[in-house]
Amino acid sequence: MQVTVFSCRDFDEKDLFLSYGKELGLDLVLCKDAPAFENVDLVKGSRCVDILTTKIDRDLAKAFADRGVEYLITRTIGYDHIDVEACREYGIAVGNAPYGPNGVADYTVMLLLMSIRKVKRIIERTNIQDYTLAGNLGRELKDLTVGIIGTGRIGKTVIQNLSGFGCRILAYDLYQSEDVKEKAEYVSLEEIWKESDVISLHMPLTESSFHMINQETLLKMKPGVVLINTARGALIESEALIQAIEQKRVGAAGLDVVEDEFGLYYYDRKSDVLTNRELSILRSFPNVTVTHHMAFYTDNCVRTVVEDSLRSCKCFMEGKENPWEITT
Ligand code: NAI
Repeated sequence: MQVTVFSCRDFDEKDLFLSYGKELGLDLVLCKDAPAFENVDLVKGSRCVDILTTKIDRDLAKAFADRGVEYLITRTIGYDHIDVEACREYGIAVGNAPYGPNGVADYTVMLLLMSIRKVKRIIERTNIQDYTLAGNLGRELKDLTVGIIGTGRIGKTVIQNLSGFGCRILAYDLYQSEDVKEKAEYVSLEEIWKESDVISLHMPLTESSFHMINQETLLKMKPGVVLINTARGALIESEALIQAIEQKRVGAAGLDVVEDEFGLYYYDRKSDVLTNRELSILRSFPNVTVTHHMAFYTDNCVRTVVEDSLRSCKCFMEGKENPWEITT
């Protein structure tokens, strides 16, 4: 039973793949590069392919199918980088390997606290021995209303984390969850915009959530609102956010994800001229903290995702029930 693993990182994933592969009796083809037409022949002999966040479009899906691939698993929670419909048309089932929500939820609270306490500019000043106070005045969470959009696994855990800080927590989701109601109040999206001092996004990127934060919705928010995004970049229209920050309508932002991060994040591009202007502008603002899609990156998440992605391939090849397969 052979599985081809793409984007396998030497420094943290490789040993885990080798050990879980052995434990599960799988032969692994490990490739450190992302899947592309140049290396697609590496899937020959593998019914299952294990990937990270590389875009899998119709053409690549067909190239996989032509070489006998029947199952594609992504070592990520979000799977908006995969054209699932095209994969299914070519007879490839798709799965994802969601790891525990705590890594992302902890990181969200960290970005939130960094944003309301102006930590980016404090560190920048400390680094140049500017030990002044002016401009560094922060706010306390207990005085704020936090709006959480998306109360699935991560949003719910963020609410749990925040519940110890004494802030008022509002929530919005297409479906309400009973345990969330113990710590947060479900309200309409309009109320989230109107009432929240901080808004944090935790829903998937879909056609309907694309650019959910845009010119129009930004105008409905409280002056000085703080935006936190550890979900997907394209939930926020970057250009509209830039304008709102320039006009001081948005007070701060903590962005672990940005639009068009593919091809940038996880690569060393320090000597390159980059074309993502919005990212450069956002990075330049003293009140915007940008990190490169790191929220998931804990020892626990990496271990779980490697193990589960291989278990899922094994279930698929043995024709057993596969809890990681996406069926919706
Ligand atoms: P989940 O599937 O458990 O929860 C998502 C929730 O969003 C569900 O309750 C769903 O009903 C709700 N939802 C869907 N569309 C919505 C809409 N238009 N408006 C409001 N709510 C909506 O997913 P989970 O595990 O909580 O992950 C959330 C997102 O976090 C993922 O989709 C992924 O994009 C992102 N993520 C980011 C990571 C990072 O490293 N920055 C790592 C892992 C996930």
